[in-house]
Amino acid sequence: MKYNNTKINRFLPYSRQFIDSRDIKEVTKVLKSDFITQGPRISIFEKNFAKYVGAKYAVACATGTAALHLSCQALELGPGKKLLTTPITFVASANCAQFVGADTFFADIDLINYCISPKSLEQKLKKNKIDVVVVVHMSGHPANLEEIFKLKKKYKFKLIEDACHALGGFYKKAKIGSCKYSEISTFSFHPVKPITTGEGGMITTNNIQIYKSLLKFRTHGIHKNKNDFINKDMAFDKNGNVNSWYYEMNALGFNYRITDIQAALGDSQLKKIDKFTKKRRQTAKIYNAGFLKNKLIKVPKECHGVIHAYHLYTILVNFKKLGKSRNEVMLELKKNNIGTQVLYIPVHLQPYYAKKYNYKKGHFRVAEKYYQNCLSIPIFADLKKHEISHVLSKINLIISHK
Ligand SMILES: Cc1ncc(COP(=O)(O)O)c(C=O)c1O
Repeated sequence: MKYNNTKINRFLPYSRQFIDSRDIKEVTKVLKSDFITQGPRISIFEKNFAKYVGAKYAVACATGTAALHLSCQALELGPGKKLLTTPITFVASANCAQFVGADTFFADIDLINYCISPKSLEQKLKKNKIDVVVVVHMSGHPANLEEIFKLKKKYKFKLIEDACHALGGFYKKAKIGSCKYSEISTFSFHPVKPITTGEGGMITTNNIQIYKSLLKFRTHGIHKNKNDFINKDMAFDKNGNVNSWYYEMNALGFNYRITDIQAALGDSQLKKIDKFTKKRRQTAKIYNAGFLKNKLIKVPKECHGVIHAYHLYTILVNFKKLGKSRNEVMLELKKNNIGTQVLYIPVHLQPYYAKKYNYKKGHFRVAEKYYQNCLSIPIFADLKKHEISHVLSKINLIISHK
């Protein structure tokens, strides 16, 4: 590939939002309406989201972290129970177990897709009764769901798909979020994610009991279902009608609601998700070709039968052979207006987990190897062709033997 014009006039972060005039119009409509929260836009967003991913139910909430916490509550994870995930994820995938008093376990990743290794998972399952497994569709590449589903049946755990990176992706013919293989899928709408609501999250499920439970925990554990009221003398008047103000709290929940303002933005963004994914995939294809001859760089793979959503484009760099540290490379790239990021620091090495469970370097070798070499480079919906050329030319220049 020839790089003719590699001048750019903005800083390129590893990911960012794309907001257009239609998004602004939809948000403005809500701001001018009677309800800016708990109004009609939330359920519209939920219905459209469920339809898009092909799940029966969707519950919008405050963040992707809240989505994971609510999911653990709904799956009745608690003290004495165990959740397992991978070290290569954002800390929230592991923390959700801690929020409910359960323990966090880890299994290693595969270097093919940077997702959980079914082999490593089975080794852990043989030794421990795991109640919930959280698979992370890392960078937007779906985890090996068929193999994990076989293990789910054999070892009888509940499965959460942390799909925060993967909206727009497919596993075989199932859209990510359809919950074909799992109880629950969770999403984040942070600005770097495939679509944004500022902060925000979504949970999808096909199970009515889980759905009801999620709704309850999202709003303080409060409900208004007259058939379920316990304090009947307080709930009903002398004619047997429900007192109009009445509600009951029969579990400890949270305020994890999303606003109508955010839901309007999310719904408008959702209409563009296929366009966004197409653009990310085109960018990935250009990067793959552009790095082909660079022996110091390994590009991400797309396994047979899946559609990678490319939330991240993460290269593995042989820094040792290059003779420069990752930090040096990142600083050089930054000087050229190219933002990069290291996603993620292995969670088991975070002092909180290392101290609590006595984790040490060497416990998850593949994850740690990945961490040594990974570098996420710019990929987002409105990344321009000449910007892609700029990224390629500078990276190939900076990551090369002189
Ligand atoms: C894999 C993964 N899980 C969970 C989260 C948490 O999402 P949020 O930032 O919306 O709370 C993130 C976001 O950083 C993530 O990348």
